[in-house]
Parts: sequence; C-alpha cells; structure tokens
Amino acid sequence: MKKNILVIPGDGIGQEVTTWGKAVLEQVATQFGHDFSFDEAIMGHTAIEAMGNPLPDDTLAKAKASDAILFGAIGHIKYDNDPTAKIRPEQGLLKIRKELGLYANLRPILLFDELLDASSLKPEVLRGTDILFFRELTGDVYFGEKKRSEDNNFASDLMNYHRYEVERIAIKAFEAAQARSKRLCSVDKANVLETSRLWREVVQEVAKRYPEVETEHMFIDNAAMQLVKNPKKFDVVLTANLFGDILTDEASQIAGSMGMLASASIGDSTGFFEPIHGSAHDIAGQNKANPLASILSAALMLEIAFGLTEEAKTVTKAVADVLKAGYRTADIADAKTDSKQVLGTKEMGKQVLQVIAQKQEIAN
Ligand code: IPM
Ligand code: MG
Repeated sequence: MKKNILVIPGDGIGQEVTTWGKAVLEQVATQFGHDFSFDEAIMGHTAIEAMGNPLPDDTLAKAKASDAILFGAIGHIKYDNDPTAKIRPEQGLLKIRKELGLYANLRPILLFDELLDASSLKPEVLRGTDILFFRELTGDVYFGEKKRSEDNNFASDLMNYHRYEVERIAIKAFEAAQARSKRLCSVDKANVLETSRLWREVVQEVAKRYPEVETEHMFIDNAAMQLVKNPKKFDVVLTANLFGDILTDEASQIAGSMGMLASASIGDSTGFFEPIHGSAHDIAGQNKANPLASILSAALMLEIAFGLTEEAKTVTKAVADVLKAGYRTADIADAKTDSKQVLGTKEMGKQVLQVIAQKQEIAN
C-alpha cells in the first residue's frame, strides 16, 4: 500500500515522541511491504517562533494533500502564564481540526493488564475496562463566538451546536457501538444547557436507527463520578467537545498515564492521529517522555486511516509485550518496577521496534 504521511511534531515532547511513532510506521512499512513516504511540517509554538503563525499555510496545504497526519503535542508554558497573548499555539490545533473537518475524536481507553498498578485506582475496579470515547471536535464552546467587553470586566464564550453536528458524530458512535458490545452512553448536561437538550434529542432520534444498541443518557457530573467509581460500566461514550476534553483526561488515569493514550480525529478527509497528552515542557528534551501514546497513535492510523488491521495489531501487541517484559517509562513505573527497567524515550522506542522486528522472524 502506498501512502503519504505528514508528520507534525509540534511543541515540547511532541518532537521526541513523534520520532518513535514515525519509526514504528517505517518499520511496519518495511516488514509488511508498504510504501509509506513522509513529509514534515511545523505547528504551534514552534511555528509562531519561526513564522509568527501557529498554523502556517504551507502546513495546512501539506496536511490537506496527505493521506494521514501523525501529530505530537502543542503548547508552551509562556502562553499558559500569559492570558493576554493574542496569538497562541493551541489556535493552530483548533484551526487544523476545523479546516480538515475532523469532527469525531476517538479516544480508546486501552488498559494493559501490566499497568493495573500504575493507576491510582484499585486494580479490581479497573480490570476489564475497555472504553471508546467519541468526543465531538469541531463545535461547542471551543468554536462559538468569543467576547471581551471594552472595559475588560466581562467575557463570554458561546456554546452552540447545530443538529447536523450532533447527528454525524452520533452516527459514528452508534456504528462503533453496534460493532462492539452494543452499549452506548451519551453524556451531556441536559438538565441545564439548551445545547445539551438538542444533543439529547438528536441522540435519541439516531438511537432509534440502532435498536440493538442499548442507549443510556448521563449528566456530565454523574459521568465524571461513575468513571472512577465503576469504569467497566462504560463501553462507547459519546459526548461534546468540552465535556469530552475533560472526561478523557480523567479516563487516562484508568490506563495508568496520559502517556499511554492515543487518539484518532476523523471526519470529512485526512485523518489526524495524536497522543492526548500535552507538550510537557518540564520534561522536554530530557529523554523522559513516554513514546507509547505516539506509537499507539501510529497503530490507530494503520487501522483507521489505512484499514491495515493486522499491522495495527502487531504494533499494539508489541507495546503489550514490552510492558509484559517489565519495561516502563518513568510515568508508568510503580513501586514494583525494577529500576533497571525504567527506560528513557529512546530506549522504550527501540524496545518496541525490536519486538515488532521479532514478530516478522516468527512469521517467517
Ligand atoms: C486535547 C487538548 C486540546 C483540546 C488543547 C491543546 C487545545 O487538550 O486535544 O485534548 O482542548 O482539545
Ligand atoms: Mg485535552
């Protein structure tokens, strides 16, 4: 299979972790006889520094022309501490999501048994959890009108949704639920928000087209609580942009670390694959970041963008095997981890590559 992949490392640890997501794609191409070509582009703080624009035209043009995008992370501490900055790294990410029509953000909470002890939750609460979040990505308060009064004493962000925006992501989530365990939980705040009442109405309508799927509606505050009380209760979770942002960071702790969670953003055209973690400038450039979320994002690309299920499985299995062998990055190490097996970014990336290579030897 011939594919053009655009790599956008972005900011902070994005640079280091994406190196390994890309290396895994190269390894897979060699082993399975695919022809993947790679191009690179800048975005975020890196792009503001270079061109004064968090999403340069050239990056957007390359993104539109590619078959899939592997993205790293975005943000810089400088802007976090300066709420008055008009140009911000995150604007690049929001703009590319909008421009590419990436309305569905899939965030699987993939729980490796070996990491049950890395979570602050009890292993017996976690064991067996398998959740797939569908977070709406191009609407909500993220993209509604923003205002600040002239006297600077008032601000507002408009939360809005169109029926079609809810419907198209609901269909994606129901399709997935139908193919999984036929359970879907839609999360909203319909007891307070008008947007949530529209959301619930549309989801109820779409649900009628999937009679085999057991549909539940839950308020966001309750869902946030249930997620740590009994995560196994959930299978497919469908929610709006802001609620999904918050809920998936919470859910990452089920998987042990933010450093483990991959995501796929899909919609009208090119798919966008990225870890859910941020740029983590405090550890950037120190060979400390966990590359597994980027590697698992590469696996999602293989599966979702290219339909290469076997290849994707090989990558996910390699990650599981490396964890089984006891290797950890610092964020997923626990009291039982042998300190000699706590690896840096590079060493962890190499372990995964090596295991993928061994899988070919076995197959031959
Ligand atoms: C995410 C991030 C982004 C978001 C930020 C960086 C704009 O937190 O992808 O979850 O809020 O969507
Ligand atoms: Mg987030």
